[in-house]
Amino acid sequence: MATVISLLNHKGGVGKTTSAINIGAGLVELGQRVLLVDLDPQANLTLSLGIPRQSVTIYESLMGESDLSPYEAKAGLHVITSSLDLSSAEMELVNEAGREFILRELFAGVDEDYDFIIIDCPPSLGLLTLNALTSSQQVIIPLQTEFLALQGLAKIKQVIQKVKLRLNKELHISGVLATMYDQRKVLNRDVVETIQKYFGPLLLETYIRDNVALAEAPASRQDIFEYAPSSNGAEDYLAVCKEIIERTKHPIHLRERSDKKTPAK
Ligand SMILES: Nc1ncnc2c1ncn2[C@@H]1O[C@H](COP(=O)(O)OP(=O)(O)OP(=O)(O)O)[C@@H](O)[C@H]1O
Ligand SMILES: [Mg+2]
Repeated sequence: MATVISLLNHKGGVGKTTSAINIGAGLVELGQRVLLVDLDPQANLTLSLGIPRQSVTIYESLMGESDLSPYEAKAGLHVITSSLDLSSAEMELVNEAGREFILRELFAGVDEDYDFIIIDCPPSLGLLTLNALTSSQQVIIPLQTEFLALQGLAKIKQVIQKVKLRLNKELHISGVLATMYDQRKVLNRDVVETIQKYFGPLLLETYIRDNVALAEAPASRQDIFEYAPSSNGAEDYLAVCKEIIERTKHPIHLRERSDKKTPAK
């Protein structure tokens, strides 16, 4: 069964799509079979990988017109593409029974084909994101190490808690990923320190450094491992993928709970 991870932050431009692509590609580098799901009507993930317009995108599947139709971007890396059509899906599904679980049902048909399914969420907390959360076991929150990084986080935590309580018991935050980190900037160092205090062990040990190759790769329609395999960006995302595999085997929230159960000697 595939491990499903949503990259979620309703703040825009924090590195969700860059992380989805390069975590997906990094996991492939580590021998995993990966499905990337572009759940954003902006279709940035689809466009960044240079995938031509497909007749079946996530929109047609969510609307019940077709099963999922993965596109093979390269060996081991498949993509469910998006398009601007998706922008009307939330409105069109508003009266659909079980509308929060459509993506989960769709995944049941492809689950066995992958080790990881990575969902690139839109920068909002609407029905599309809700579908991502009911289908996922894990959420990774990318945070740009800038002023206001933590603003709005209480809301994300609240939504995740509610989904966990009412719709998907397995859901948990498995990591917080510091992105666009520049060690030379005092502000970046300060923000990371604050994130560390707020999230403790949930903060992934690898910070994604500010790296121009990560911003350039989409223009070449490539992931970072194709575009600049020896860049800091490739190094950082590979390290993050190793942490993700480790956290999937030994979840932090279960580790913490078992720590708490240990009686004091
Ligand atoms: N580590 C990095 N170093 C330099 N540039 C980066 C890095 N990560 C992301 N970027 C750039 O920052 C911009 C925003 O990143 P991205 O599109 O991944 O964010 P997003 O959270 O998916 O945005 P949206 O909310 O609009 O979907 C992009 O131009 C991307 O190329
Ligand atoms: Mg995006």
